[in-house]
Amino acid sequence: MKLFVDTANLKDIEEALKRGFVRGVTTNPSLLAKEPKAKFEEHIGKIVELIKKYQPEAHLSVEVFSRDPDEILKQATGFAKKFLCSNLSVKIQIGWNELEIISNLNKENISVNCTCNMSIVQALMAAASGARYVSLFWGRIRDGGVKIDNFNKENRELMIGNKIARNDDFDPVSVVRRTRMVLNNVYPDVEIIAGSMRSVLDVVDAGLAGAHIVTVSPKFFPDMISHFKTDEVVNQFLSDFKEWLE
Ligand code: E4P
Repeated sequence: MKLFVDTANLKDIEEALKRGFVRGVTTNPSLLAKEPKAKFEEHIGKIVELIKKYQPEAHLSVEVFSRDPDEILKQATGFAKKFLCSNLSVKIQIGWNELEIISNLNKENISVNCTCNMSIVQALMAAASGARYVSLFWGRIRDGGVKIDNFNKENRELMIGNKIARNDDFDPVSVVRRTRMVLNNVYPDVEIIAGSMRSVLDVVDAGLAGAHIVTVSPKFFPDMISHFKTDEVVNQFLSDFKEWLE
């Protein structure tokens, strides 16, 4: 399992890249909107420069921000021309119209990370259309199964009632595991990115479920790297050795 950093914050991206434990960066319009207002292309350009400085082979996903097919294609081809890092993928949301765009971009050798997938069949169709990556939204998949507000409850019951989904299609572990199963034989080169992480446990569970890549918000890094028993033993080693040296 590879780790990507899921943010548009330049400082967090730099801190992660220079430590070498992430193999890529994923952004999305909401993550960008959290950053101080700037010109979109300039901000992404700064991310590209950080990748070139610290990890030239690192992946970068940049998401389009339209539902209009012509605009999506224009943005996607524009990103490929403008953002010159060696492992760029254009992030395009899953959708009926988007599949044709994904197929055409694939024919032009433009790598697509098809995103906003919540189901096995969405990810399968994206892979079949030529997406290089399929992003499954772990936290939101679970939300769809547990939230009791009308929006989630009514849509969940509609999907189940219409035999589009079962209860375990709202269990992200099951969705990632089975997506990996259905992709492995025919689309072995397509990588599953698990996003929408809500805890460190989700990160581990997504990897164990079979996600090739888990993209993680930098807010989880401090908890991922630390453990009270590690602090305890390092302090013991240093104090033991200090006494020995004296
Ligand atoms: C990753 O590529 C996704 O865009 C991101 O993880 C989504 O996270 P969210 O569901 O918290 O918005």
